[in-house]
Amino acid sequence: MTTRALVITASILGENGQSKALAEHFLTLAAERDGLEATHRDLVAEELPHLGLDELGSWQVAPEERSASQRQLAARSDALISELREHDVVVLAVPLYNLGIPSQLKAWFDRILRAGETFRYTAKGPQGLVEGKRAVLLLARGGQYAGTPLDSQLPHLEAMLGLIGITEVDTVFAEGLAMGGNHRDSALAEARQGIAGLVARL
Ligand SMILES: Cc1cc2nc3c(=O)[nH]c(=O)nc-3n(C[C@H](O)[C@H](O)[C@H](O)COP(=O)(O)O)c2cc1C
Repeated sequence: MTTRALVITASILGENGQSKALAEHFLTLAAERDGLEATHRDLVAEELPHLGLDELGSWQVAPEERSASQRQLAARSDALISELREHDVVVLAVPLYNLGIPSQLKAWFDRILRAGETFRYTAKGPQGLVEGKRAVLLLARGGQYAGTPLDSQLPHLEAMLGLIGITEVDTVFAEGLAMGGNHRDSALAEARQGIAGLVARL
């Protein structure tokens, strides 16, 4: 059986993007591994706009009643949700920018977390509708925050994935990349090893 991985990158640093380099390492290892197929979506190349009222409103109109522009707006989220559903694993390569996730990745989540499609509200709270999937997070950071209250990123990512039902999450940290000394090289080497271990197990 083939496992399909959707690899999402969101670094604005081009060739110097470390989370993207880690994602590329994942893609290289996936290509060498039988039974694992990977698709790459670069959210910076894509330039998804912020979610706004017209696009949000387009989701609330029944598909057969949408105007031409509503159909076009709803298609953005529909396509991203279909892509997610077609894969077994979502790999998010996430830079830390100003203590949060890149706005490009937030724009992706804003299309993926869609009431009535990927989760629904119930009397017992929200229920995820994306079943049988797992996530891998590749987190690149200038400083070191893992396991501290300043890690605003990991709880946010886990909460967003959890809302739609993705609760099995593996995390690889590459931290201290801007701290000088040999922090950067050892953190990247460790992260690459972590990725190799995960790819072998997927
Ligand atoms: C605009 C910007 C904001 C950043 N903010 C933070 C930050 O708040 N904390 C931190 O530890 N590193 C910060 N950094 C450093 C990045 O986390 C680091 O460069 C990391 O490698 C970014 O991922 P990328 O290389 O995949 O783009 C920032 C870098 C940039 C470009």
